[in-house]
Amino acid sequence: MKALIINCSPVRDGATAEIVKLVSEQLSARYSVKCICIDDYSFAFCKGCRSCHSTAKCVMEDAGVIEGIMSEYDDADIIVSVSPSYWADVPGQFKAFIDRCTPWCNTHEPHAAIRSGKKGYAIALRTGPNMAECERIIGSIEHFYGHLEIECKGHLGLTSIEYKENVAARKKDIIAFCSEI
Ligand SMILES: Cc1cc2nc3c(=O)[nH]c(=O)nc-3n(C[C@H](O)[C@H](O)[C@H](O)COP(=O)(O)O)c2cc1C
Repeated sequence: MKALIINCSPVRDGATAEIVKLVSEQLSARYSVKCICIDDYSFAFCKGCRSCHSTAKCVMEDAGVIEGIMSEYDDADIIVSVSPSYWADVPGQFKAFIDRCTPWCNTHEPHAAIRSGKKGYAIALRTGPNMAECERIIGSIEHFYGHLEIECKGHLGLTSIEYKENVAARKKDIIAFCSEI
């Protein structure tokens, strides 16, 4: 079984990356793990032309970049998205990716599709103390999973994390979460 872990932050060595590393270590005993970072990819914003609503194809020049990311999703059985709060939502880079996935959105026919039967997990982190903001981010990720027909199987919210050094204090919670994946 394969697990794809996504760093939804543009920071490659921050707190999100630290959590991705820990999740990867935990899952690698049971899964073949691949980690990607949204910053590994460069793509333009969705222009909202809606061509894909009737063709299931994106007309933009860099459509192949998004198809490449989606082939990573297609290859995996388990998807774990790890996202920090940027202004109380997923970082703009990850939101821009979600927008570009409209050809895969199941609200229109035809639509592109990844293999069925995938399970999705979400981890949200933030600096502030209030869990409601984490829940909002988890909601954005689970909304995305829903339209890709990825089954939402679990989520974890982590507050009071600003830097990677703050992750150690939450290691036990993250390991416990991973044991359920
Ligand atoms: C542009 C930006 C916006 C942020 N907005 C929020 C916010 O609205 N609420 C919050 O609790 N933390 C916010 N943070 C803090 C991050 O969620 C936190 O530092 C997280 O650990 C960053 O992880 P990263 O370095 O892996 O991206 C923000 C950080 C940045 C860089």
